[in-house]
Amino acid sequence: MQSIRSATTSIAEALAEKIRTRKARCGVVGLGYVGLPLAVEFAGIGFEVTGLDVQESKVGQINAGRSYVQDVPGDLMSPLVARGKLKATADFSVVSELDTINICVPTPLRKTKDPDMSYVVKACEEIAIHIRPGTLVILESTTYPGTTDELVRPILEREGLIVGQEIFLCFSPERVDPGNPKFNTRNIPKVVGGCTEACTELGVLLYEQALDTVVAVSSTQVAEMVKLLENTFRMINIGLVNEMALMCERMGIDVWEVIDAAASKPFGFMPFYPGPGLGGHCIPIDPFYLSWKSKQAGIEARFIELAGHINGQMPHFVVDKVQNALNQHAKPVNGSHIHLMGVAYKKDIDDVRESPALDIAHLLAQRGARLSYSDPFVPELSLEKETLLAEDPVRMAGEADCVVIITNHTGMPYAEVLEKAALVLDTRNALKGFSSPKIVRL
Ligand SMILES: NC(=O)c1ccc[n+]([C@@H]2O[C@H](COP(=O)([O-])OP(=O)(O)OC[C@H]3O[C@@H](n4cnc5c(N)ncnc54)[C@H](O)[C@@H]3O)[C@@H](O)[C@H]2O)c1
Repeated sequence: MQSIRSATTSIAEALAEKIRTRKARCGVVGLGYVGLPLAVEFAGIGFEVTGLDVQESKVGQINAGRSYVQDVPGDLMSPLVARGKLKATADFSVVSELDTINICVPTPLRKTKDPDMSYVVKACEEIAIHIRPGTLVILESTTYPGTTDELVRPILEREGLIVGQEIFLCFSPERVDPGNPKFNTRNIPKVVGGCTEACTELGVLLYEQALDTVVAVSSTQVAEMVKLLENTFRMINIGLVNEMALMCERMGIDVWEVIDAAASKPFGFMPFYPGPGLGGHCIPIDPFYLSWKSKQAGIEARFIELAGHINGQMPHFVVDKVQNALNQHAKPVNGSHIHLMGVAYKKDIDDVRESPALDIAHLLAQRGARLSYSDPFVPELSLEKETLLAEDPVRMAGEADCVVIITNHTGMPYAEVLEKAALVLDTRNALKGFSSPKIVRL
């Protein structure tokens, strides 16, 4: 009779062979900013890829060869669909035909700032119903250390298949940076850690087929913590530099000049820039996954709480600055027309999730301002009480009492806006090099 060890080895070897020869059928669960680029990358190197998403509209668009993710060009994706290399479905029974499954579903925070694991749990429960021996599952959603082993593993093992023996499980943090022209899914190094050695080896092997660099770590917990360290590092440094901006304002010092000069130091300093507040689905959220988990381990994440507090104040600081600047022109905010220039959470992308523009719009509306906005990437903006359509920034600059630059998209007509505007509050140093009494800098 075959021993368990050799049975495991032969299951793992059969899967490895399928991956090496690109005969493995790959699945990607959650076809958003992370999942769709990954699915296209796998399909592009010859794997047959099935995407799974609960949103029928996304499934329909993929099957029609249309991309809805800015970083995935339609002309790259549609031939893959036409050749049958990429398809999508909302029906999880397809899991029984898959050899590998990457899970890229949302991991937001609840209102209480606790992790909302409901999407991961739901996806894993669906997978567990249909999974068969010889399948590799990799969680990519950002999460707290311990998720893969403590939450995902027991769900996948519900039907009796054992991780490390019949099925294989890894965590690999997604580091995609939407809108980044230099770094994409393929050339960003991929960290992967498995529940067992065999799991890690299979995870590494899969990513090595499609990605330039794969970094293996010793466990799923290490891989989970890597992502949280990266994003917490960023969030805390942004908090620090935002606090610097508040201090510089009090002391009448130009914080932007300070940072540029400090960045001339060739070692031991990395520039971070102040701004109107944190945005997106990572930096404002991920550190709270860590603080939630560390609280359970009896350690208070004080840096995270402090930086969260400072960063959370920035939209209020911006609105106070608008008010002060208008007051100097003998205008109240109430009834003034404020034009928000750029509303995506960072430059050159179309994503408004958690954008500070939403908070600033809300605070200005509360103070009675009339709002308009411009953003070449965002044609429509839903606010609490109204939905706005994007306007022409130069025309609006001529009509508004104040323009607030919230997102510094490349190629915007900053010179014309400045020429037409009565007042510009620049929260991103987009007007670097311009000098005018109309400019108020953060
Ligand atoms: N967007 C980024 O820049 C980025 C970068 C690094 C890491 N991440 C992390 O990656 C994960 C995914 O983020 P995203 O930005 O791609 O999210 P997204 O909202 O763009 O996409 C998630 C997709 O998952 C689908 N989905 C939800 N529940 C599902 C289920 N049960 N089964 C199948 N599909 C389901 C949604 O319909 C959606 O299409 C998150 O954990 C996020 O924190 C995102």
